[in-house]
Amino acid sequence: MITKPKGTKDIHGKDARKWQYIEEIVSNVLDKYNYTLIRTPLFEASDLFHRGVGETTDIVSKETYDFIDRGNRNMTLRPEGTAGVVRSFIENKMYGDNLPQKLFYIGPMYRYERPQKGRYREFYQFGMELLGSDDPIGDAEVISAAYNIYKMLGLEKLKVNINSLGDSESRKDYHKALVEYLKPHINELCDDCKERYQKNPLRVLDCKVDRDSDILKKAPTPLDYLNKESKERFEKVCEYLDMLKVPYEVNPRLVRGLDYYNHTVFEIDDTAKDMGSQNTIGAGGRYNGLVKLLDGPDTPCMGFAAGIDRVMVALDAEEIDLDVNDDVDLFLMYVNDEEKSYALYLCQELRLAGFRVDTDYLGRSLKAQFKQADRLKAKYTIVLNSKDLDNNEVKIKNNKTKEEEIISIDALIYYLDENLEDECDCGDDCHCGDDCHCHDHK
Ligand code: HAM
Repeated sequence: MITKPKGTKDIHGKDARKWQYIEEIVSNVLDKYNYTLIRTPLFEASDLFHRGVGETTDIVSKETYDFIDRGNRNMTLRPEGTAGVVRSFIENKMYGDNLPQKLFYIGPMYRYERPQKGRYREFYQFGMELLGSDDPIGDAEVISAAYNIYKMLGLEKLKVNINSLGDSESRKDYHKALVEYLKPHINELCDDCKERYQKNPLRVLDCKVDRDSDILKKAPTPLDYLNKESKERFEKVCEYLDMLKVPYEVNPRLVRGLDYYNHTVFEIDDTAKDMGSQNTIGAGGRYNGLVKLLDGPDTPCMGFAAGIDRVMVALDAEEIDLDVNDDVDLFLMYVNDEEKSYALYLCQELRLAGFRVDTDYLGRSLKAQFKQADRLKAKYTIVLNSKDLDNNEVKIKNNKTKEEEIISIDALIYYLDENLEDECDCGDDCHCGDDCHCHDHK
């Protein structure tokens, strides 16, 4: 038997509905923030990530899925979404009068990591990118949008960590101080860190091996080296977050694992006990230099991405049952061929009218069809029979109360509309059931 590749998942059954639900909430909330969807390719020229994410980052140096295509081009499965969005922004000339561009995406990303709970080789992100604004309100708004999406999904145990890496001048000063500090300790660090020290010392702070060592704990932090403007800017971001009532903690050691950041960086953790070690459910920051680095016009940007797989782990860890509605509104049963073809027709009419309808596809006995209706938690059932059909009638049964009514087929849509609507307070024809999670309820 062929099995799925290591570090990948099949998403099916109730999980798939939860997944769909999360994606709907994300699209819906980001639509309210006036972000529009962008879809970029799953693979890009390798150079995009080498230059964009950074040659010395773990992602690029150890984790990319690289391949040479049949035209001899070096390609990489995208390990994250930001570089592709920026490439598209430049290539499609989305700058000019159209700024800011507010874009969001949902899709799979690929990193060759050691799989564990919450960490996969194929994983899904949703992300948002605000391109073309340098105003700290953008930083605060992106962080709060991320926070609000998690809250809307019911997550409570959220911890927002923020930090500032400062502008290029602050970073230069910090770089110098860090190199001086690390110099006498370098032999005590891992081999990767020795290399990072030479090529990109900031990366040492992000080392998965040495991160918790005393040496790194006592290292100077970027916050200590912010110049006046960077400091004031960071204070503004914090002030706006207070205004938006987003609880946060300043974490001076937060540097992030990608090279493109400056000024604000942040991570959102879920602190529930059962999260395991992969408890960062989303992260992002400002990346003012990336568009220029990728040969576009100088454009300040801010963004964020969340791991949907980790959000699913967090929902379990916080014991939140999304209660997605997978009940069937109506199950149509039949015995003979005439009834069967009418069932086929009626299913289509009712589905097009917005109801979730199912029927038998296996030539089951009527008894087995009743069982199937129960298995699908059908709210209503109809056993079609030729005599009723001749009279343009059906006998519809409420599967909960077991009450039966004979109604005209012409009135069926109206009947279902009225009766299913009773179960939902949203006032719309959403047919979503008691615990309504339709868009208008969110
Ligand atoms: P990142 O921190 O590399 O940032 O990833 C963002 C989120 O993706 C993580 O917080 C985590 O929830 C999820 N994630 C990352 N790797 C895995 C994995 N192997 N398995 C499951 N989930 C994972 C970025 O990707 C940046 N592009 C974020 C950004 C957008 N910055 C600015 N704009």
